[in-house]
Amino acid sequence: MPSYDRSIALYEETRQHLAGGVSSNVRYASTPVPLFFARGEGCRLYDEDGNVHIDYILGNGPAILGHAPPTVCQAVAETLMLGQLYAGQHVRELELSKRLTSLIPGADLVRYASSGTEAVQMAFRIARAFTGRTKIIKFEGHYHGWVDNVYVSVRPSGNEAGPAEAPVAVADTPGVAPGALDDMVICGWNDLEYLRAALEAHRGEIAGVIMEPMMVNGGCILPAPGYLEGAKALCAEHGAVLIFDEVITGFRLGLTGAQGRFGVVPDMTVFAKAVAAGFPMAMVAGKREVMEILQTKGVMHGGTYNGNVQSMAAALAALDVLTADGGAIYKGMEARGTRLMQGLAERAAKHGVPVHVTGVPTMFQTMFIGAQPANWRESSLMDREKALAMHAALQERGVRVNQRCSWFFSAAHDDQAIEETLAAADGAFKAIS
Ligand SMILES: Cc1ncc(COP(=O)(O)O)c(C=O)c1O
Repeated sequence: MPSYDRSIALYEETRQHLAGGVSSNVRYASTPVPLFFARGEGCRLYDEDGNVHIDYILGNGPAILGHAPPTVCQAVAETLMLGQLYAGQHVRELELSKRLTSLIPGADLVRYASSGTEAVQMAFRIARAFTGRTKIIKFEGHYHGWVDNVYVSVRPSGNEAGPAEAPVAVADTPGVAPGALDDMVICGWNDLEYLRAALEAHRGEIAGVIMEPMMVNGGCILPAPGYLEGAKALCAEHGAVLIFDEVITGFRLGLTGAQGRFGVVPDMTVFAKAVAAGFPMAMVAGKREVMEILQTKGVMHGGTYNGNVQSMAAALAALDVLTADGGAIYKGMEARGTRLMQGLAERAAKHGVPVHVTGVPTMFQTMFIGAQPANWRESSLMDREKALAMHAALQERGVRVNQRCSWFFSAAHDDQAIEETLAAADGAFKAIS
């Protein structure tokens, strides 16, 4: 059993100075306290007690090349003495924009931000200004950041969420401004009839429809065949802007994200996380006629750190690695990730633990559930106690996943890491069976 004594002591001390002892509530979700890490390299994290973790949290997704990817760090280091913020333009920003607009199907124009949360809000403002409408359709189980209008119905429980065909908006946190949810229309995902009904019920009022095109946060669930195409057609019919939140799927579902993988190009897309391989960078990308209203209609978007020198350098260097040999790195990730997914399913079966491995090789979830879920209401039926026990049993054995047992995979997870992980998983499934 590993010792976490130093993390426990540091956490107690931190709580005296840092509210709750963490800088993001997501970091509470760790056992036995939020652990303190000394460094990360490749697919491994080294904590303050000297424990080594094969990391499948990867900073909650961004570290697609592993921790401290050498060429990205080198490229950033080379810019450090050039300054960070010019409150003006620079050529790395131009260079990156040219590369991204030539790469991403739905990106005629891009605009940078620093976090996914704020980029989502930018997308909403653009959609409202573009359509002259105010309401946004958001789906149950989808996460689009922590601010008032979107931290709603992310994880509603069955008894508060209302009927599946007309869900109630459930604020997921105290402290939400009264009225913040008034313009949000909550809808069930992966069923075109629900979306059709919501658009009909609010005919002429919907500015935008936002979704994770693969519902990663709600269970790593793929869109049903035809769902994205149907959603796009419905949005077009109703004059609503279709917004894909590819904060997680971008540069993880391949070079062109979910829109490339599934062949459905939205009007606007939000990217963050993997795009800069761990450095803070987000962006909204979209069709020219939608995006250019930032300028033509004077739609305000600001942000002191947007397009900062180091984040642009990081994204450029990450793109160099990700696009080399036509994106060959993804083939390797897909092959090794598939082996891990299959290996986990086999070991769960061997120990008689009911598990569905949902998702794709670069992001998946070992879900303790009897049947493959298709939406949040179904995935919310998973056995949370089992997931928690598995998370703890894996951590004891040197493998780090979150408390829902979702796994992010990186280019740094090599064959040896997979073998070690599967050996740990064998012991963990046995322990919780
Ligand atoms: C799909 C999705 N959208 C938006 C966000 C918010 O991004 P950030 O944490 O950078 O604000 C996240 C974060 O996990 C996310 O998963």
